[in-house]
Amino acid sequence: MGTKKMRVLVVDDESHVRILLSEVLKMEGFICVQAENGKDALACMEAEPVDLVLMDIRMPVMDGMEAVRIMRDTWPEVPVIMTTAFAGVDTAVEAMKLGAYNYISKPFNNEEIIVNVKRALEIQSLTREVEDLRRVVRTRFSINNIIGKSAGMQEVFKGIGRVAPTNSTVLIQGESGTGKELVARAIHYNSRRSQGPLVNLNCAAIPEGLLESELFGHEKGSFTGAMNHHPGKFELAAGGTIFLDEISEMSPNLQAKLLRVLQDRTFQRVGGTRTLAADVRVIAASNKDLSEAIRQGSFREDLYYRLNVVQLEIPPLRDRREDIPLLVDHFIARCNKEMGKQVQQISHEALKQLTAYAWPGNVRELENAVERAVVMGQGGVIMTEDLPVSLQGIQPRAVTRVNQDRGGSLKEMMEAVEADILQSALDDTGWNRVKTAEVLKMSRKALIYKIDKYGLSQR
Ligand SMILES: Nc1ncnc2c1ncn2[C@@H]1O[C@H](COP(=O)(O)OP(=O)(O)OP(=O)(O)O)[C@@H](O)[C@H]1O
Ligand SMILES: [Mg+2]
Repeated sequence: MGTKKMRVLVVDDESHVRILLSEVLKMEGFICVQAENGKDALACMEAEPVDLVLMDIRMPVMDGMEAVRIMRDTWPEVPVIMTTAFAGVDTAVEAMKLGAYNYISKPFNNEEIIVNVKRALEIQSLTREVEDLRRVVRTRFSINNIIGKSAGMQEVFKGIGRVAPTNSTVLIQGESGTGKELVARAIHYNSRRSQGPLVNLNCAAIPEGLLESELFGHEKGSFTGAMNHHPGKFELAAGGTIFLDEISEMSPNLQAKLLRVLQDRTFQRVGGTRTLAADVRVIAASNKDLSEAIRQGSFREDLYYRLNVVQLEIPPLRDRREDIPLLVDHFIARCNKEMGKQVQQISHEALKQLTAYAWPGNVRELENAVERAVVMGQGGVIMTEDLPVSLQGIQPRAVTRVNQDRGGSLKEMMEAVEADILQSALDDTGWNRVKTAEVLKMSRKALIYKIDKYGLSQR
């Protein structure tokens, strides 16, 4: 519970009770404040916050019942423990309905006081921690933290807004690193199930033989090594959402079982006979094109239609380059905050390179590049030198692959690549031939010769 001393407010109209309680608590390392009635207690709490209240019920001026009601309203996070004579137990129960944490009957035993106070403080600190985490999670996964102004991303936002409050199954498609998991989280945390769990399962990461038990759980003794009953992800996600990532990697056998869950909303544990209800929303994601997988016979069409109630398609970053500057700003701000850095901006040149690059790893790759640049960068501005080497200088824009696919002799392919590189370099310098020749470390004459040879022109 940390080293900070906790402040306990002891409220009782009899001074000898207050003194006794204070002595007991001080011995345990608490700081004690005393008040002789409810009104006095509220004044104490106004003056300086306390961590817990130990309060009698029957007192003059303002009794414990009225005080607890006000305390719960004003300081809902402070636990209140009532103390009461044996005859007052009914009233104590009433006090608990008003939000008191517990009651202790008089005459008390010291041990009972200490145990109750410590437990209440522990639970309060856990609750606080959970709430802090919830808040962090909610801000980090709110729609506001998904960046993008491109038409493609605007469609995604619209989709999230439309689908989040419903219970619909959602299929998210997009290349690796485009933000599928981010979108899945945003849907969950903006849904009516947001207080429930969000359970992730990456279908590609679990060996085929274990996936069924991971999904649906197993009964004791259902297979060698199944020593105990084990709940599956569908059970753990009850009341919440299950995120099935890389769904295309699921075996045909499991696809059939998942289809059944989506149809009947029920499932059985491996080795079990009981039918359990699946109160779970399913969000699936794939970085492969599922309709292609269907054509190849590796994915069930009926399952596809079940999953595909609502489809969100996240475009690759290279098709929405206008999002790049926004994402860069967003990641710089986040790195500054998380790493205590003070990078103010990015140089025009560096941003231009980031915008021109093809980003095969999509937003994740961009995020890593910016993070690295913030760490490496000297001073408050990100420069070209701070970017990964793969981005520096002229980009051949992944032309090699394309040209190989085009076919032809090696010489022809090499020439096509050369032409592409020259074109890119010229575009990047705004067709400044001197500068281009300099960047490519070739003579101006050779450059002009090649522009002519390949018939290059300003695009
Ligand atoms: N539009 C966006 N705005 C802000 N951050 C984003 C955006 N898209 C992706 N990111 C960030 O990029 C990283 C990759 O995103 P995510 O893990 O959601 O991708 P993915 O599509 O699930 O990738 P994979 O297919 O490899 O699992 C994450 O750190 C995420 O926060
Ligand atoms: Mg993912």
